[in-house]
Amino acid sequence: MGRLDAKVAIVTGAASGIGRAIARRFTDEGAAVVIADINESAGAQAAREFSQGAGRAVFHRVDVTAERDLKEVVDRTVKDFGRLNILVNNAGGGPWRTFEQTTLEDWDRTFALTLRSVFIGMRLAIPEMRKAGGGSIISIASNAGLRGMPPLHAYSAAKAGVINLTASVARLVGKDFIRVNCISPGLIATPASRSTIPDAEAAFARAQAIPKAGAPEDIAAMALFLASDEAQWISGATMVVDGGQNTAEPVPLILEE
Ligand SMILES: NC(=O)c1ccc[n+]([C@@H]2O[C@H](COP(=O)([O-])OP(=O)(O)OC[C@H]3O[C@@H](n4cnc5c(N)ncnc54)[C@H](O)[C@@H]3O)[C@@H](O)[C@H]2O)c1
Repeated sequence: MGRLDAKVAIVTGAASGIGRAIARRFTDEGAAVVIADINESAGAQAAREFSQGAGRAVFHRVDVTAERDLKEVVDRTVKDFGRLNILVNNAGGGPWRTFEQTTLEDWDRTFALTLRSVFIGMRLAIPEMRKAGGGSIISIASNAGLRGMPPLHAYSAAKAGVINLTASVARLVGKDFIRVNCISPGLIATPASRSTIPDAEAAFARAQAIPKAGAPEDIAAMALFLASDEAQWISGATMVVDGGQNTAEPVPLILEE
């Protein structure tokens, strides 16, 4: 028996990295999973891979900055699978720019991708979860949102928004048995972090108490717990999964002049 048997989940940004690991774990635990991503080839490939054996995963092309795309994927999911129990707002990101070099376009794009998408996803999912008698919304925040992390200025601000939106919406929908939580990862070895962090392996090793990068599966394990009925009394929480990064002195990932 799987821990998510009979559950229906949407995972955004699930063609790569953390989202992909979450989608795989959810599928392995019995959920029907909709992989919502802009990367069509990698998303379709993931759906094929996770559907081997007993798993059920499908791909929908979704740009989370477009409200229409998010509405379509929620509507299709309910039409195809009958309900929506779990939403993982995972897609997000922002540019590595010094404060001086951060443009208004960077700022707006980062907020659209990282925070506005979470707001839209929550707004669309909540009515469906009410119909289902409850649900679990999980957003992927970041330690950058807990204490700021130069040179990720716009990103740090947007992730702080994810953390506080999680808390305010959790208070609103608790009465409907909808739980709203977020996960704050430390440094996780994914295509995104390896390509953006200079000297990534060394940065991974020195940034936290446990001297190695986290794996996407470490975040997937927490997402599975929050999605499952074992977390039925957890809402409004920010679960820090970071190898003890928060216990260490902040180490700048890159020095700004
Ligand atoms: N990797 C880390 O160290 C780390 C740490 C803290 C938080 N996070 C957060 O975890 C989440 C996933 O990051 P990752 O490292 O796995 O990234 P990744 O680049 O490996 O994967 C991101 C996925 O999101 C998709 N995507 C990008 N823009 C999209 C859009 N507009 N609409 C739909 N999908 C889109 C990409 O195609 C890709 O499949 C992000 O929110 C990120 O901020 C990552």
